Amino acid sequence: MSPATLGKDLVGLETLSAAQILLLLDTAERFKEVSERPIKKVPALRGKTIVNLFFEASTRTRISFEFAEKRLSADTVNVASSGSSVSKGETLVDTARNLEAMRIDMVVIRHHASGSAEFLGNRIRSNVINAGDGKHEHPTQGLLDLLTLRDRFGKLEGLKVAICGDVTHSRVARSNIWGLKKLGAEVAVCGPPSLVPREIGQLGVEVMTRIEDAIAWADALNVLRLQLERMTAGFIPSLREYNRVFGVTRERLARAPKDLVIMHPGPMNRGVEIDSDVADGEHSVILPQVTNGVAVRMAALYLLAGGSPDWQHQGGSE
Ligand code: CP
Repeated sequence: MSPATLGKDLVGLETLSAAQILLLLDTAERFKEVSERPIKKVPALRGKTIVNLFFEASTRTRISFEFAEKRLSADTVNVASSGSSVSKGETLVDTARNLEAMRIDMVVIRHHASGSAEFLGNRIRSNVINAGDGKHEHPTQGLLDLLTLRDRFGKLEGLKVAICGDVTHSRVARSNIWGLKKLGAEVAVCGPPSLVPREIGQLGVEVMTRIEDAIAWADALNVLRLQLERMTAGFIPSLREYNRVFGVTRERLARAPKDLVIMHPGPMNRGVEIDSDVADGEHSVILPQVTNGVAVRMAALYLLAGGSPDWQHQGGSE
């Protein structure tokens, strides 16, 4: 695959090269200014029809994909499992093939099953973008995290990023690890052994079991949500106990040798994995992450549709 293209689908960062990830980040960088215009619209995807299939709850990803599509002038339709024939037992592939019969161009999918985006991409003609599949990957979240870190530090090479919390249930952790490692960052994961998969070290990350060690080591912390809805067993004694031992608190950060950039993909459990004064504090980039999400999704949609990275010179600007 040429480094200047992405291929048909975006299912994860594991399968992308460093050049492809940089292409996405650099294209997102150029799209940022569209959202700052009084009229937030360019004709880059005029005439394209995109279906957002969200079979799991989402605020940030669903809405920012929709903004990205509208800002690129695409026609969009939103489909949720409730209210569609999925609730009557129709399969994912049948649903997508029926949508394709109406001549769509792209599908953005969030689904509880790991591998569902790739499965769908292999069975339909339209481009597929993974908006989070089970515990597998959340590539556009990984990309927006990379973009936010690059904004703050000017580079990713050599940066120390600690991913803290519920790694076991996190697709964000996997996409972050693949993306950060490919671009030369050092990555550690930190959490209770019950929430860190034993084999995670094989991905080239350091494993830490004390949040104090992660805080002392890192330049940035990416704090993960405790995914209580995915936990099928007693992974932690209690939320209060988790906060006491692993919570990212102002007191713990005050003992760090330097100021750390604080990230969280959202939604947050305030007072559990992160305290409010940290989430809302001066070193938090949680809302800039959300802002970058729109530009990253514009870039992914545009490049998968065959757009040139030099979009402003390809009729992309009005
Ligand atoms: N970060 C993220 O995926 O948030 P949503 O579940 O609200 O989309």
